[in-house]
Amino acid sequence: MQIETGTSLKPYNSFGLPAVAQRLVRITSDADVRHLVDHPDLGRGPHFILGGGSNIVLTRDLPATVLKVEVMGKRLVSEDASAWIVEAGAGENWHELVMWTLAQGWPGLENLALIPGSVGAAPVQNIGAYGLELKDRFESLDAVDLCTGRSVTLGPSVCAFAYRDSVFKHDLAGRSLITRVRFRLPKPWAPVLGYLELERKVAETGITQPGAQLIADWVIAIRRAKLPDPQVIGNAGSFFKNPVVTPEQCRDIIDRDPAVVHYPMPDGNVKLAAGWLIDACGWKGKSVGGASVYERQALVLVNRGGATGSEVLTLARAIQESVYGRFGIRLEPEPVIV
Ligand code: EPU
Repeated sequence: MQIETGTSLKPYNSFGLPAVAQRLVRITSDADVRHLVDHPDLGRGPHFILGGGSNIVLTRDLPATVLKVEVMGKRLVSEDASAWIVEAGAGENWHELVMWTLAQGWPGLENLALIPGSVGAAPVQNIGAYGLELKDRFESLDAVDLCTGRSVTLGPSVCAFAYRDSVFKHDLAGRSLITRVRFRLPKPWAPVLGYLELERKVAETGITQPGAQLIADWVIAIRRAKLPDPQVIGNAGSFFKNPVVTPEQCRDIIDRDPAVVHYPMPDGNVKLAAGWLIDACGWKGKSVGGASVYERQALVLVNRGGATGSEVLTLARAIQESVYGRFGIRLEPEPVIV
C-alpha cells in the first residue's frame, strides 16, 4: 500500500476545483482496504472515498486520508434466458463500460451513455438519464466496511436507491467502500424511448425500432448538445435535483407561470424542471468569480477557469435564494459538497 502526501486533487475532480489531500491511498483490491484498516496510523480514519470525482464540490483541503478507488476489470458473470449479468470494478470508467457492454452484444445500459464518472460512484447517486436509472439495471455490489475490513455483497434493498440517492449518501457514507458492481441486463432487450428528446429523435429519423447502439448514439448527441464536456469545461453535471412538489403547489406556480416544465409522478406529486426554474430567474451565463451558470443548461454550474469551491457555493446559494424568492421552492444540491 503506497501512501502519497500533499496530493493535489485538482486533476481528480471533474469541476477542476483546487484542493489538497493530506494523504492519498490508491485502492486496487479488497486486500488493499484490509491493509488500510489494519494500518496503525491510517486504519481508524477519517477516510474520504474518491471515485471518478464527477459528483463532488471540493470547498477545502482534505485532512482525511483520501482513498482513490482504482479497482479494475469487467466480465460477464453469467447468462441465462432472462438476463446477462455483467460485473465491473469500481474504478472502471462508466461510459467505457456502457460502450463495452454494447460492443459485446449485451444491451441495456445505452440510455446512460456518456455520464461522467466511475462505475463505483454510479450506485452512490443512482445515476439516471433519458428515462433510465442505475437501479433499473442493478443486480448487486461488493463493498468493504472501512471499520471492520469485512467484505460484503449488497443487494438492491439494502442500497435503498431513490432519485439521485442511496444508502451510500446516508447511513453508509464514508463507511462502505464499493469495490465491484454487478448489472442485470434483461432479456429480451426492450428499448426505453419514453423520454421526450428520444421521442423527438424517433420522429425526426422515422426509425421507430432503433437498436441499442443507435439509442446510445442519440443519447451521446443529445448530451453533447447541451451538457458541457468536463474534459473541456469543469462541471459536476446537474447541480440541483429536480424538486418534487404537491399538485396544489404546482397549480399555484402554473397560475403564475403557465410555462413551468413539470412532470406528474406515479404517486400523485409533481416533479419540476429545476433548470427551467433557474433559467426563468435569469441565471444563464451569470458568474461569481470563475464559477458560472452554463449558457445551454441552467442546471449545470461550470468552472470557467480558476474557480474555487467557495465561489461555486456562493453562486449556488444565490441561485437557491432567487428561486425560493420567486417560486417558494428550495432547490437541493445534487453533488456531494465537501
Ligand atoms: N430547461 C429550461 N432551461 C434550462 C434547462 C432546462 O427551460 O436552462 C427545461 C428544458 O427545456 C426541459 C426541462 O427543463 O423542458 C428539463 O431539462 P432536461 O431535459 O435537460 O433535463 P433536466 O431535468 O434538466 C435531468 C437530469 C440529468 C439528465 C437529464 C436527462 C437531474 C438533476 N438531472 O436533467 O442528469 O441527464 O434529466 O435525463 O435529474 C445529472 O444528474 O448530473 C444529469 C445531468
